[in-house]
Amino acid sequence: MVDCYIKRTMRLIKTIKQMRQWAERRRRGKTIGFVPTMGALHEGHRSLMRAARRRCDAVVVSIFVNPAQFGPNEDYARYPRDLKGDAALCRREKVDVLFMPTAETVYPEGHDTKILVGRIGEVLEGAVRPGHFSGVATVVAKLFQIVRPQIAFFGQKDYQQTVVIKRLVRDLNFPVKIVVCPTVREKDGLAMSSRNRYLSSEERNASRVLFKALQKGRERIQEGERDSAAVRDAMTLLIQEQPPARIEYAAIVHPDTLMEVTQIEGPVVLLLAVWIGKTRLIDNLLVKP
Ligand code: PAJ
Repeated sequence: MVDCYIKRTMRLIKTIKQMRQWAERRRRGKTIGFVPTMGALHEGHRSLMRAARRRCDAVVVSIFVNPAQFGPNEDYARYPRDLKGDAALCRREKVDVLFMPTAETVYPEGHDTKILVGRIGEVLEGAVRPGHFSGVATVVAKLFQIVRPQIAFFGQKDYQQTVVIKRLVRDLNFPVKIVVCPTVREKDGLAMSSRNRYLSSEERNASRVLFKALQKGRERIQEGERDSAAVRDAMTLLIQEQPPARIEYAAIVHPDTLMEVTQIEGPVVLLLAVWIGKTRLIDNLLVKP
């Protein structure tokens, strides 16, 4: 039923062969814009689709909950899945193709190649989620090969991911331009995320502290504070005042190298990973002093 409805305006493709055929035909003289996602789509994903729609002749969105980027104790099995809602949202955004391969299609029996991401994939998220960026880089490289977009769109929400993808594209010479779109937030500042739906109403309240802490950090820098330890302390103090919040990391790093900065002299990224109860949230802010 859902499939028939979708087909009138948008193609739903589930096999790699069909996806490649479509891209091959479509690519001649046309710009394909690509938005890779894991579904449970929200306004953040939507902003990427809109950016793609504005800049490209055809828009491909993929929905694939990639097992390779989840650790053994992470939320792969319970990651939210909403095919009907996602398909309707893509259709509203005038997406040309919704590509939804199965895990068996992407990783058939005997699949044995992985992309190894260096230092930039081993710090921050990579340090607490070993193998995560190798899983991301591998699936994104595969998707680039299948969809063959000229432009691909990623959200600043996952800041380190954008750095890893840009490096992947540069190091492996993918003919793709990477566009990074701003983080879309709820009215109270919470960055939109598929994982926000895990939060109870009390936790949802507490989760506002991530953006508040980032703003506090920015404020301190703009007031002239140059010692990053002092800025970090101001952010962590605020978070510690919220009982269900537990900081996994609070970091101030160089925007390209992701190296920790001790003395703030140029642009920096403030990065947070915070547990709110059993839900892990990340957020970041780019600050230019
Ligand atoms: P997912 O978490 O579904 O996110 C898909 C894209 O949407 C990513 O580029 C992400 O940064 C962006 N996004 C998420 N929330 C956003 C927000 N609030 N504002 C702006 N952009 C936002 O990231 C992944 O999936 C996966 O790692 C993937 C790249 C698909 C590889 O499996």
